[in-house]
Amino acid sequence: MTRSGAAGAPWWRGAVIYQIYVRSFADSDGDGVGDLAGIRSRLPYARELGVDAIWLNPFYPSPQADAGYDVTDHREVDPVLGSLDDLDALVRDAHASGLRVLIDLVPNHTSSEHAWFRAALAAAPGGPERARYLFREGRGPGGDRPPNDWGSNFGGRAWTRVTEPDGTPGQWYLHLFAPEQPDLDWTNGEVRAEFDSILRFWLDRGVDGFRIDVAHGLAKDPEMRDLAGNFAHSEPAAEGHPHWDRDEVHDVYRGWRRVSDAYPGERTFVAEVWVQDPERLALYLRPDELHTAFSFGLLLAPWDAAPMRTAIDTSIGALAEVGASPTWVLSNHDVVRHVTRYGGGELGRDRARAAALLMLALPGGAYVYQGEELGLPEVTELPDGVRRDPAFLRTGGADRGRDGCRVPMPWSGPRPPFGFGPSGESWLPQPEDWVELTVEQQAADPSSTLALYRDALALRRELPALGDGQQAWMEAGPDLLAFRREPGFVCVVNFGDEPAELARELLPDGARVVLASRPVAPGGRIPGATAVWYARD
Ligand code: NOJ
Repeated sequence: MTRSGAAGAPWWRGAVIYQIYVRSFADSDGDGVGDLAGIRSRLPYARELGVDAIWLNPFYPSPQADAGYDVTDHREVDPVLGSLDDLDALVRDAHASGLRVLIDLVPNHTSSEHAWFRAALAAAPGGPERARYLFREGRGPGGDRPPNDWGSNFGGRAWTRVTEPDGTPGQWYLHLFAPEQPDLDWTNGEVRAEFDSILRFWLDRGVDGFRIDVAHGLAKDPEMRDLAGNFAHSEPAAEGHPHWDRDEVHDVYRGWRRVSDAYPGERTFVAEVWVQDPERLALYLRPDELHTAFSFGLLLAPWDAAPMRTAIDTSIGALAEVGASPTWVLSNHDVVRHVTRYGGGELGRDRARAAALLMLALPGGAYVYQGEELGLPEVTELPDGVRRDPAFLRTGGADRGRDGCRVPMPWSGPRPPFGFGPSGESWLPQPEDWVELTVEQQAADPSSTLALYRDALALRRELPALGDGQQAWMEAGPDLLAFRREPGFVCVVNFGDEPAELARELLPDGARVVLASRPVAPGGRIPGATAVWYARD
């Protein structure tokens, strides 16, 4: 495997991991939906990009009420996306080319089509089948009001009433996401044992780790208290929240750590934890819990020096307390792509390029979401009829949803689907003007965003200062963030719109520009919306 992070440190402390949204990466069979065989055929691309590993979004059998985060069988592959044989072949080829493979684990909920939930609906209230989920009696006469005031992340309430097998209106079940995603009860021993077994199933197959979906959501207030206006439904958790980030979740992760530690080869977890307080995030990364968790601070910060610096400092500081390394991320399949968040157009792309160099220079690991290396913007013009996201569908379009960041990759050629697959199909339409942004176009252009990512990732491997380790801020002036990493590396980002002077004495002796997100004249000023890496030869 390849170098990442300080010598002797576990690989994941400084790794760059490429997030592959399976449905939208590469389609091998022409049905317009990306699949595992498509990813396998494109592994050389990930390898050439220079990442250490790939993370695959869920590929399990699913009715797709939430793009695969509604799983019916955690030990299978959805036939639309391939087979277990395809997955094995993908892992084998990835390993042969020096890439590790992380997969998505969805423990907070199953699909409502999962055998367990079907059995729960067919069984009487109070039995063991229902005890795997969170069924409760309703409030009020006849139990026709939901058990509490919790809301779904996708809009509407978090409870759905079932019809009992005898045809009468019955109990309610909890779903913090769509009604097709009933929440599991993590106090139930059978649920815990099942997930230990699912982990082993995939670890035995050779996967290198798991991204844990909604890792802060598994434990719920046993009393099921109302939010009562004290807490928001979907905001990052606040302390004492009745269903986010409760202390009881940590016991689950201590158990999982014991499972993964029994395997050779530095298997790893990365947790999706949405919390306001980085010190709460750090609790998930205590030495006997998870290895890494996304530091969402960068992703949430606007394009401005002060909030970016605060996001970086709070994350680094809190995680250092538990000896963990940060895991940076600018975009993923749930948020508006950062080119667009930063203003869109040329300016948005310039800022996004600078943000990439900032992220890749920070201590710790980083995730790159497929297409960000091409500078893809959010697709805001998708017709309503093609949108699939429950966040869009369940709010009648008030929430535009996440389809705009999930549009298939443009690989090559003059028109959609730009080499995405062998037919003319793609499950979401790509904009015509992506002709400028295809991999083919950018690979041939040394000034492209793809070339910038490749250059940055190549330097990360070469320069011992990068990856895991420390950084120290330098005061470089308003709108500038500048930090030093040893030996002999400096990153400077100009968040302003005007060129800025960098005091020469801030640079290590003999340092020169090794990479810049926009052209910088030797010894010249740093243009607006630009990041520069300096290092000694
Ligand atoms: C977080 C995932 O990233 C998102 O796509 C999904 O909708 C929710 N968890 C529910 O599983």
